[in-house]
Formats: sequence, C-alpha cells, structure tokens
Amino acid sequence: MAKPWATLGIDLHLEPTGPGVRGGLTDALREAVRSGRLAPGTRLPSSRTLAADLGIARNTVADAYADLVAEGWLTARQGSGTRVAMGALPTPLRQWGSAAVPPVGAAPPRRERHRPTYDLRPGTPDLASFPRAEWLKAARRAFTAAPNDALGYGDPRGRVELRTALAGYLARSRGVRTDPDRIVVVAGFVHGLKVLGAVLRARGVRTVAVESYGLRVHEDQLKAAGLHTPPLPFDELGTDPAHLTDEDAVLLTPAHQFPMGVPLHRDRRAVVLDWARRTGGLVLEDDYDGEFRYDRQPVGALQGLDPDHVVYLGTASKSLAPGLRLAWMVLPPALAEAAAAAKGGIDTCGVLDQLTLAEFLTSGAYDRHVRSARLRYRRRRDALVAALAAHAPEVQATGIAAGLHAVLRLPPASERSVVQAAAWQGLAVDGLTCYRHPHAIAEQPMDALVVGYGTPPDHAWSGALDALCAVLPG
Ligand SMILES: Cc1ncc(COP(=O)(O)O)c(C=O)c1O
Repeated sequence: MAKPWATLGIDLHLEPTGPGVRGGLTDALREAVRSGRLAPGTRLPSSRTLAADLGIARNTVADAYADLVAEGWLTARQGSGTRVAMGALPTPLRQWGSAAVPPVGAAPPRRERHRPTYDLRPGTPDLASFPRAEWLKAARRAFTAAPNDALGYGDPRGRVELRTALAGYLARSRGVRTDPDRIVVVAGFVHGLKVLGAVLRARGVRTVAVESYGLRVHEDQLKAAGLHTPPLPFDELGTDPAHLTDEDAVLLTPAHQFPMGVPLHRDRRAVVLDWARRTGGLVLEDDYDGEFRYDRQPVGALQGLDPDHVVYLGTASKSLAPGLRLAWMVLPPALAEAAAAAKGGIDTCGVLDQLTLAEFLTSGAYDRHVRSARLRYRRRRDALVAALAAHAPEVQATGIAAGLHAVLRLPPASERSVVQAAAWQGLAVDGLTCYRHPHAIAEQPMDALVVGYGTPPDHAWSGALDALCAVLPG
C-alpha cells in the first residue's frame, strides 16, 4: 500500500493526485515543479530511495521519472542523477480560483486584479466595521441555547429560529407580509436567483424581464436556467413597467434601482402590480440595501402590497457582510415549497451563522448595527457631495438618497478615460457602462461613474475621496 506522501529528504510533500500510482506520482512531481516547490536544478532522490520512501515499486518511480524526462520537466544524466530541468520554470501562483488554465491574454476576474490602493467600486460594505465582538457574543448565546437537532440535516427552508426572527424584522422594518413558513434562507441573493430560476423554468416560465441597468451576474443566473431576459425601458423616473406584456416575471430593484439609485415611481409601483394581477405574472423584488435610506423613512417593500404576486429577496451582504452568504426569499406558499425542494431537500446554509443572525435580530444588535452603519455611510455620502462641490462642480451626483453608492455624471465621452486615469492613480472605480444591459432601452447612454462609498475602511476614506477628486474633470 503506497504511503500518501514522501519527504524526498528535501522537505517536499508529494500527494498523488492522478489515476493509478504511476500517474499519481507523475502528476504530483509535475505539480511540485510547476508550483516552484521543486526548483530547477534540484536533484531528486534515486528511484530506489523514493520507491522505498513511498512504499511503491521501484519500476513505478523509474517509469514516472522517464515520463517527466520525456515531457521536459526532468533531466537524467549518468553520474548526476535525475534533476529538475533548468527550463522547467514554475508558473506564477494561480490567481483564478479555478482549476482551468486561463487563456493567454485574458483579463483576470474583477476582484482578483492587483489590489488597488483605494477601492470605490460598488457592492461591498465597510468590512472593517463588521460588528465582530457583538457577532461573537450572539454566536455564543445562540449556540449555547440551540437544541442538538440544530446540528442535524436541517429543514431546507433554513433554521426556524432565523425564519421566525426574519418574519418579525421584515414586517417591522420593510412592511413585508409573511410568516416563517413562506421564508426560504439561501446563500446570498445570487443563490436565491439560481434556485428561483430553476423553479420558475420547471413551471413553464420562459421570460423574466430585467432592468436596463443592473448586475450582469444576476441576469446570467436567469439565463443559465434557460430564461429569456429582455430589458425594460429606463427614463428619468426609473424603470418603466408599462411595457410589460406577455413576460412571465420581472426582476426589479424597487426601493433603490441598482445602480441608478432612483426608487420605482409610485405610479409605476401600481402599474407593475396591476400587470402581475392581470396576467398572473410574478415580480422578483431585489431589496439589496433597503436598510440604508437617508432622506426619509425607507421605501416599503412592494411585497407588502401583494404577497401572492411578489417574491421578496433580501440579503445580509450590505447590512453585514457578503462573506456570510446569507440571504432570504419570501415567497407565495406553493413557490416556497418548490424552492425548498430545489435547494436540494436539505439545508445548504450553515446552521451556526443562521442561528447567530437570528440571535442578532432578536436581541436588537442588528438594529443597533444598522443604525450606526447608516450614520457612518450618510456622513461619507455628505463628504462626497461636499468634495464634489468644492473640487469638481461640473460633476453631478445622483441616486444619493439611499444605499452605499452614487452615480457621478460625467461629460459626454469621458467615462473610459476617467476610469483609466483612476486606475493609474491606484483608484478602482466602475464606469456606468458595465452595468448597462447590452440591449438597454434608455435615453442617450450616459457617461458616468458608479462610486461605492461604503467599501473603504474609515482611515482610508478621505484618501479615497482625494484620489477620486483628482481624476474628475474640475
Ligand atoms: C443589486 C444587488 N442585488 C443583490 C445584491 C446582493 O447579492 P448577494 O446577496 O448575492 O451578495 C447586490 C450586492 O452587491 C446587489 O448589488
């Protein structure tokens, strides 16, 4: 029986990975060279020594060495043994998070590019302000009180403690009408969309209208389920649902259009619900940052007006942290059952975080955290507006009544050069173009930046603001 690894006398662990002992050893050695753990010129142990070390046949080692010599990874010379070939340079550490080798010249995924000095891309809250101490206390309390069966294979809808806490919180803070049975906990909004996409497709849904501006990754989830995703027109009042006809469903961000920042106009709220009732259509309400409204009471959830035609989707990604991967869907009863089944029939979300969030909500820690985060983000937003007035009076900030980002309107045809100039300054910002649907129905495409002011930690915020002002047209 082969040992799982050998040290080769040079502190190198080999773990066979491929098929069969010979293939596994060949793969493990190739990987050791490729990753740089075996440097060019390194002398390998004799086949007899390595075979004894690994507990495998000497011939197997000799064959693996011969394969790698033939491939050019190793060299074998009488008198100097088997060495790592001088030309076998290690490839840089893989940054891609996937086993696939990226095509030459491909740009790395967005979040993996070299780390900018300042990051003002939208999407992530200030992670340095995550309430770690409170979260740990809540985790301790929740886990101490949890019954043993909480550690079993759970209800696919999620822990009942969390669904009960969410039902109360969402009713109180967002006007959502639900009971715990209608709630399904998911691993982030994206996961919720994936589950919903499968459920809807299985029920014969073919078309889900989306907004002309939004996140491509969300549309991709729907497309991956085999759904068509035509965009709705967008104008100064926001998304226009009057154009909904025979679509089966529509995905909207009614409280705070992403990324444009306007709430769905109240007449249009009525129009979309009227469409849903008339046609049996379904509204998917993405309430990603409903907690953060600065100028007045938060806009209530659309779901509260018609729980049978609206699926409400909320997330902890903005209010706490995206790394928690916790979100929730509030569904009409039949869809709740189907979504639980589509989740896989067991709970695929970690029970400890669910119990902790339940405790966080019921103890009032969540409200306290959201209140203080809202104050902090509001101050940042005010500082952004003041800095623009002082240093870039031509640049108008819109969509600033809520959320963690603003849209900065730029002079025509300048978006690309501003984004590039920012990158040279070590400042990451997104142009509006990357949020525009390829078939967007909107007035004149606008040049703009989408600036997330939530992400930098407090100590970096004023530096980020200075860097931003430096690249904006003055
Ligand atoms: C428009 C929108 N919806 C939803 C989300 C939340 O996604 P998730 O819960 O998968 O992190 C985000 C996060 O950036 C978002 O921008």
